[in-house]
Amino acid sequence: MQKVQAYINKNKQRFLDELIEILKIPSISADPDYKDDVFKTADYTAEKLKAAGAENVEICQTAGYPIVYGDKLIDPALPTVLVYGHYDVQPPDPLELWTTGPFEPVIKPTKVHPDGAIFARGSADDKGQFYMHVKAFEAMIAEDALPCNVKFMIEGEEEVGSDNLGVFCQANKEKLACDMVMISDTSIIANDCPSISVGLRGLSYLEVEVTGPNRDLHSGVYGGAVANPINILCKMIASMHDENNHITIPEFYDDVAEVTKAERKAMNEAPFDIHAYKDDLDIFQVRGEKGYTTLERTSIRPTLDVNGIWGGYIGEGAKTVLPSKAFAKISMRLVPNQSSDKITEIFTKHFKKIAPKSVKVQVRPHHGGEPAVTPTDTVEYKAAAKAMKTTFGKEPIPQRGGGSIPIVALFEEVLGVKSVLMGFGLDSDGLHSPNEHYGLFNYYKGIETIPYFFQYYAEMKQ
Ligand code: BES
Ligand code: MN
Ligand code: MN
Repeated sequence: MQKVQAYINKNKQRFLDELIEILKIPSISADPDYKDDVFKTADYTAEKLKAAGAENVEICQTAGYPIVYGDKLIDPALPTVLVYGHYDVQPPDPLELWTTGPFEPVIKPTKVHPDGAIFARGSADDKGQFYMHVKAFEAMIAEDALPCNVKFMIEGEEEVGSDNLGVFCQANKEKLACDMVMISDTSIIANDCPSISVGLRGLSYLEVEVTGPNRDLHSGVYGGAVANPINILCKMIASMHDENNHITIPEFYDDVAEVTKAERKAMNEAPFDIHAYKDDLDIFQVRGEKGYTTLERTSIRPTLDVNGIWGGYIGEGAKTVLPSKAFAKISMRLVPNQSSDKITEIFTKHFKKIAPKSVKVQVRPHHGGEPAVTPTDTVEYKAAAKAMKTTFGKEPIPQRGGGSIPIVALFEEVLGVKSVLMGFGLDSDGLHSPNEHYGLFNYYKGIETIPYFFQYYAEMKQ
C-alpha cells in the first residue's frame, strides 16, 4: 500500500491536470447542441481508462449517449467490483451567475476548501469523483497492487434519467456480473467529518400545461371574465401543500416507509449546524414538513417542488396580456417504498381533478427513478468505512441523502447486487448550481482512500 500511496503522491499534479482537461469538455446531456461534446467526453474517458491499465475498453453505443466500459479481471476466484460513474453534466445556466466560465476550470480557495477547489461544471458531479477511481486504479495497476477484479461502467445520461443504462444492464448481465457496485457520486458531511451515503431518494418528474383561452388576449378587454391559466396554475400548485407543509395529493403517503424512533434519533445525532446551514443559504428560517427535522426532511420524507414555471409575457417592460397557456416542471422526491410510476399516476389523476372547468390541463411524465437504501452490515460497507477511517482518521457516519441516483435500485433489481455510495463531495459544492466546485482535498482524499477500500474489501471477502 505504501508504494501505491507514494505513486499517487508523485503524480498528484498530473492527476489534477488530467481532470482539468476533461472538465473543459461541455458534456451537457440535456442539451442536444452539445451532442458532439458528450461523445467526445466518452472518447476521452475510454482513452484514460485504457491508459490507466484497463482492458477490454469499449465505447458501447446506446439509443442515447454511450456507456464507457473497461475492466481488469485478474482472477475469477477473487471478488469483482463494478465502479459506476457518469461523465455527463447538468446545464450550467444561469451563466451570468458564474464568476468564471463553467468549462474553463480554475482553482480558487473557499471558506470550506482553504487548500483550493476546482471550479467547473461537473467538477464534483461527477467527473471529479469518477476520475478519482480511474487514478486510484492507475496507481494500483502501476504498483502491481490490484487486489481484486474491477469493471468500470461510466455513463453519459445520468443527469437525464439513465434510461438507456437500464436497457444496457438488462442486455449485458454477464458482462456486468459483479459482487458489488462502488459509486462516488454523493457527499460527505464535512472535510473533517466523513460519511457514507446509505440512502437515496427516488424521483418522479413531470411537466404540466394549463390552457385557458385559445389565444393570448388583451387583459383589459377580457380580464376578469376568462380564466388566466397562470393564476389557475399557481393556485393549483399552492393547494398541493397544506398548512403543515404536508402534500395533499390523496394516497401520496400511502407507501411511505415509517422510520423507527431509534433510527430517527441516530439520524439526528449526526453533526449538523442549522445556523451554518441558514447562513450558507442566506435565509432566516428553514421551512418544511411539520414534525420533522431538516435532516429528516431531506432524507426520509418525500417532497413536491416546482422546478420551473413559465408563461405569459416575461420580456422587457410591461405587456397587458391574458395568456393562453401556463407551464410548470414539477418533481417529487420519493422515499422507500413509494413507486415512481404510481406517484406519477396519482399526481396526474389529482392534477386533472383539481383543475377548474375553465381550463384544460395536460400532464407529461419525464423521467423517474426508485429510492434505495443500502445496508451497513455488509462486507462492502465495512470495507468502505474502514478505508475512510484509515485516511480521514475518523469513523464515517452512515447517512441517508436526499438526491437520486436511479440506477442504484436498478443494479439491485437487474444485477442482484448492492451498491456502496462512497462519495467525497460536499453538499455546499454547488452541484447543479452556478460555480460548482470540488475541493482539491476531496479529490486527493478520494484517490488515496479508494485503494484502501479495494485492499480491505478483498481481505474481508475471503
Ligand atoms: N450525484 C447526483 C445525486 C446526488 C447528489 C445524490 C448529492 C446525493 C447527494 C446525481 O448526479 C443527480 O443529480 N441525480 C439527479 C437525478 C437524475 C434522475 C436527474 C437528482 O438527484 O436530481
Ligand atoms: Mn451525479
Ligand atoms: Mn447530478
